[in-house]
Amino acid sequence: MNILAIESSCDETAAAVIADGRRIRSNVVASQAELHAETGGIVPEVAARAHLQVLTPIIRQALRDAECNWDDLDAVAATAGPGLPGALLVGLNAARGVAFARGLPFIPVDHIEGHVRANWLDSEPPPLPALALVVSGGHSELLLMTEAGTLERLGGTRDDAAGEAFDKVARLLGLGYPGGPVVSQLALEATDRTLRLPRAWLGDTDDFSFSGLKTAVLHTVQQDPAPPAAEVAWAFEESVADVLSKKAARIAEREGVASLLVAGGVAANRRIRELVRQRSRVPVFIPPPELCTDNAAMIGAAAAVHTDQAIRPEAPIDIDPTPYRSKVRR
Ligand code: KG4
Ligand code: ZN
Repeated sequence: MNILAIESSCDETAAAVIADGRRIRSNVVASQAELHAETGGIVPEVAARAHLQVLTPIIRQALRDAECNWDDLDAVAATAGPGLPGALLVGLNAARGVAFARGLPFIPVDHIEGHVRANWLDSEPPPLPALALVVSGGHSELLLMTEAGTLERLGGTRDDAAGEAFDKVARLLGLGYPGGPVVSQLALEATDRTLRLPRAWLGDTDDFSFSGLKTAVLHTVQQDPAPPAAEVAWAFEESVADVLSKKAARIAEREGVASLLVAGGVAANRRIRELVRQRSRVPVFIPPPELCTDNAAMIGAAAAVHTDQAIRPEAPIDIDPTPYRSKVRR
């Protein structure tokens, strides 16, 4: 079974062809990072229009790379939320258009579930039940994946998402966008590793908070003299990695899960990958960095487990931009 999947929820325009729910036949991602670097962050309208400009060639490229033609497709999937409304509409409607023209079923996919399902791509499936830590630019969620594969939200950030904190700290340090990779790279250059920034543990809750840390970074860079930027970047990354890894490992143990899955753009972070692997008592699964950041392959993997939710492309449908935290409760 071949699924053509499309992702356009944020600032990556992506299309992929996934075979049998697991095998990546093609995976094309066009990042708008350069466009948004000018403004130091995403302007939703600008993102939506950029998706519109590049999506058709990206879909063609995904079919070409997969050595696939339209007749080889069995279903079409697209991210239906959460995300930027205008951006979501571009990918969703393009996917419905293809499905309608080819008489194929259409599968709407939840972006967060997509991130989690990246752990199934081109690899052995993780054992369930699992604890999933999804950390990206827009989300920091702790989810329990049951044996049946459904997701229940345990907790998440109360303010900034982990990636958002990286992006804002990058701006405070005068670095580019997206902040994660540049902050992480700069942290490697820190020679003095004694600066300590606060950690918000929030007691025994399953929640996170990163806004206090961001304010601490602001106060640190305003000191006179301020520590070198590399040391601030290092201390910030340590604080985020410490909290995420400790909480995830502890909650995985408490829930008695068979594996710990980490996903989302921030899961590409070297230090977070290292600390989670060090601290977890259950097997850890983290996709390769290129499948952590937004892509369509993960949307295809999630669509494959929801073929029963396929709809006729002409059926009425809406996007669901609502953040995850307000939708899924235990
Ligand atoms: O999953 P993603 O591509 O998009 C969303 O769904 O939000 O995540 C993007 C986020 C950005 O905030 C970016 O700064 C962060 O992931 N990120 C990283 C790294 N690579 C990307 N954060 C920390 N370390 C990295 N290596
Ligand atoms: Zn994402």
